[in-house]
Amino acid sequence: RGKRAFIAGVADDNGYGWAIAKSLAAAGAEILVGTWVPALNIFESNLRRGKFDESRKLPDGSLMEITKVYPLDAVYDKPEDVPEDVKTNKRYSGSSNWTVQEVVETVKQDFGSIDILVHSLANGPEVSKSLLETSRKGYLAAVSASSYSFVSLLKHFVPIMNPGGASISLTYIASERIIPGYGGGMSSAKAALESDTRVLAFEAGRKHKIRVNTISAGPLGSRAAKAIGFIDMMIDYSLTNAPLPRELTAEEIGNTAAFLASPLASAITGAVVYVDNGLNAMGVGV
Ligand code: NAI
Repeated sequence: RGKRAFIAGVADDNGYGWAIAKSLAAAGAEILVGTWVPALNIFESNLRRGKFDESRKLPDGSLMEITKVYPLDAVYDKPEDVPEDVKTNKRYSGSSNWTVQEVVETVKQDFGSIDILVHSLANGPEVSKSLLETSRKGYLAAVSASSYSFVSLLKHFVPIMNPGGASISLTYIASERIIPGYGGGMSSAKAALESDTRVLAFEAGRKHKIRVNTISAGPLGSRAAKAIGFIDMMIDYSLTNAPLPRELTAEEIGNTAAFLASPLASAITGAVVYVDNGLNAMGVGV
């Protein structure tokens, strides 16, 4: 049997989640995705209308099939956690069963189990503010959407993950080095995500034989990155300063995720794997 992957954080064909889905599909995995509720309608209609067909192309010429798209809001664990104003919001009330617990229950009913969990989502409402200017609410929202969302997804999915399975998240070097402009507590959220990768590797490894790794990715002009506002500068900086002064493609992150999820990486867990043309290794720009 091929492996089954659930990829949380796919809402268009530009981001890392989409590229990871493609690499996993090319390696023979069945693809399920979790799409942020407010982005669901547009994503599903674009998918239906063939807008992504060009980017669904796999190396063998076939098109990636997404078996099912699940609405998901990873800042809510269970229905009781959803505030009234969100429940009644037009963008949410048209969908159901999108808290983490309900999504996992639905996946279990639909398919029984998964092998691979990918977390490719982040949100920091105050990302454009410096950390000194970030409110408590903004900071906690960044950690809730970008870090605890992974803890929650793994915690709920791990009981239906087959032993030998793997989980992967996406992080950024701003967790360990100063990247001015990556504000709002997003740098803190990525530091938490990397630390949790180690602790969860121990806990999920001992208890469930599941590996937990995170990919520290270089800059990509995704929708989320464009919202931060300094992505073109970061791409230029990498082109000038990285050991490999070349464009970084989402496919390269996708291929690393496919490797990390495969038996080829059976002894790798608790790791932060850099896929950034080596930029992390530089001490100064040149
Ligand atoms: P993206 O926009 O393709 O992906 C982010 C996704 O998160 C979107 O689909 C959005 O709808 C979803 N999302 C936001 N809040 C959510 C919630 N509460 N529940 C469910 N989904 C939610 O952008 P990108 O850049 O591909 O981001 C994927 C991951 O890669 C993120 O963790 C990001 O921090 C990380 N990353 C991105 C880099 C870049 O330069 N683009 C560099 C290093 C890491």
